[in-house]
Amino acid sequence: MLSNKTIVLGITGSIAAYKAAEIASQLTQAGANVNVIMTKEAIQFISPITLRAITGRPLVTEMFDLASEFSIEHVSLAEAADIVVIAPATANIIAKLAAGIADDMLCCTVLATKAPVAIAPAMETNMYNNPITQDNLSKLKARNFVIIGPATGWLASGKEGLGRLADIDDIIGNIRKVLGRGGDLAGKHIVVTAGGTQEPIDPVRYISNRSSGKMGYALAEAARDRGAKVTLVTAPISLPEPVGVDVIKVGTAQEMRQAVVKVTSQADALIMAAAVADYRPIKAAKDKIKKREAGLTLELECPPDILGSVKGNFIKVGFAAESSNLVKNAKQKLQQKGLDFIVANDITASDSGFGVDTNKVTIIDQEGKIDSLPLLAKREVAERVLDRVVELLPKPKSR
Ligand code: CTP
Repeated sequence: MLSNKTIVLGITGSIAAYKAAEIASQLTQAGANVNVIMTKEAIQFISPITLRAITGRPLVTEMFDLASEFSIEHVSLAEAADIVVIAPATANIIAKLAAGIADDMLCCTVLATKAPVAIAPAMETNMYNNPITQDNLSKLKARNFVIIGPATGWLASGKEGLGRLADIDDIIGNIRKVLGRGGDLAGKHIVVTAGGTQEPIDPVRYISNRSSGKMGYALAEAARDRGAKVTLVTAPISLPEPVGVDVIKVGTAQEMRQAVVKVTSQADALIMAAAVADYRPIKAAKDKIKKREAGLTLELECPPDILGSVKGNFIKVGFAAESSNLVKNAKQKLQQKGLDFIVANDITASDSGFGVDTNKVTIIDQEGKIDSLPLLAKREVAERVLDRVVELLPKPKSR
């Protein structure tokens, strides 16, 4: 998604300017061409040499730099950009952009570009909360600028408060989302489920499984990066929430079902990557069950089958985690649950399935086509699954 994208990264004079080096590094590592513009104040906080070394590209600091490769820089940078990101953005640059002032290279580039512009404010809490700054931000929002953060936390003043630069994951996630606009899932609503549900035994214990949620989260991020509106219904897991995705947190299979029924009323596809518990205690104890030497027998029942029972005019995709008879079992689930296709994986392999970052899957569709993919990163598996979803989506009517 970021590969070969041209990103103009504007850095302004905030203590948080040092974090721009990490942003530039992550974007460069993801394959983007990062062209940095630093204001003269930013140079007081971080050396241009650092940014030049990280991006491996020429960097602009002055309006008229005869040695630069960009002829009329604000025009050529503005034209080349797929997105302009200002991180950190001071109250000063926000005010200048809101007023249309063009007295430095960064302002000129923003005024001259047709690319989307995202800004991540970073400043002291009172400066941020000041109605003048808020008015300026509202103006920029109304002009379709994407505002990222700020976050709450430790500030340079030594106080805790609102005004801290948004987390780098938040900034990069938003950049990915903006660049994904107009992707092959633009205008589509994709619902993804993830993680292992937890079925309570008593207030402190539950039945669950080894699902890490990584496959579902990879699917949610990949769909976001292809332009979809994404709703992620997630069981409790330890991964950070994906940026730019609507997240609904659930505990039990029953809660997951209720959430899925609600959000799929407007969905184009449901991808059930969650490992829904197959058994739950018939009744959870109100109080903590005390240890008994004689042991304990739990009476279990099956929670409702979500995929098999949810109704609607959307593409249905299931996962099948199998330890034997992979294709046979997966085909059975495909039919029983009325799916468009199923993604089966062998959970006995140590590099595939639960907990790891890779997966080796076989995709089986309604036509009986069996597509065995090699071992891939879960993100790559997610892309292949979404390719199949795109193929199944109704094609726009040609006139
Ligand atoms: N699934 C579901 N509701 C359930 C159980 C499973 O929607 N109560 C979905 C899973 O999210 C997955 C697919 O059905 O997409 C297959 O799940 P899996 O656990 O492999 O199959 P089960 O139907 O539970 O059968 P078994 O555990 O016996 O293999």
